[in-house]
Amino acid sequence: MTAPNAKHTITDEGSEFLNDLCEAWSGERSELQELVEEHGLQLFTGGGGARAIVPFPDEYITEFYFDDWEHETFYVAKICGIPSPQNYREVEIWNRVYGNSDADLFAPVDAWDDKYRWLLMKRVTPVSPISGDLPYIGNGQEYYVDSNAPERIEGWLEDEGWHIEDAPENIGFHEEREYPCLFDYGGVHPVDGEIEYPDWLQAAVDDYNH
Ligand SMILES: Nc1ncnc2c1ncn2[C@@H]1O[C@H](COP(=O)(O)OP(=O)(O)O)[C@@H](O)[C@H]1O
Ligand SMILES: [Mg+2]
Repeated sequence: MTAPNAKHTITDEGSEFLNDLCEAWSGERSELQELVEEHGLQLFTGGGGARAIVPFPDEYITEFYFDDWEHETFYVAKICGIPSPQNYREVEIWNRVYGNSDADLFAPVDAWDDKYRWLLMKRVTPVSPISGDLPYIGNGQEYYVDSNAPERIEGWLEDEGWHIEDAPENIGFHEEREYPCLFDYGGVHPVDGEIEYPDWLQAAVDDYNH
């Protein structure tokens, strides 16, 4: 099934902010930092560093369901100045699982750029196997501790035909629907077969690396 891309619900200011973030990504690190701070936001760290993760203000989205959970924002934006293989992989997997039993293993990707420079993902609460998880503390993110969470989600993924490289630092809890899921599935692979990147995306990445 194909998942809906809700990018039409992003306001003009929101689209501008996403574009500015993508452009700042390509500049100095401080440029991105400044832009994020100007909007009263904080960059999330803890990932591989190829993408920038930014809480995305609710005011930039015109239609979405809201709830009692007091997240500072409802979505996070995953930003890259060039077409991002991780973003592509997450959009591709989200489209494959959407409407199926394994959809709940993945935090929803509700909107994405045609060139995969950005996507908007449902914000979830991180679940760490250890207490005192420094990246989450540094981000000011509230998180749960559950030492068995990685093994459990690895098992569920395997039952559905998925393999993950890096479960421990990528598990979240969907507060409204109350299920654990991956918030970063850039390291997820089908057990049989692989997700291929389109030629134009691979070419853009090669171009950037040279
Ligand atoms: N959907 C999300 N909800 C809440 N926090 C998130 C979400 N996605 C990412 N984060 C935060 O941003 C950090 C880096 O994000 P991640 O997607 O893992 O980046 P990378 O692709 O660089 O590994 C995470 O460790 C987490 O703290
Ligand atoms: Mg990660």
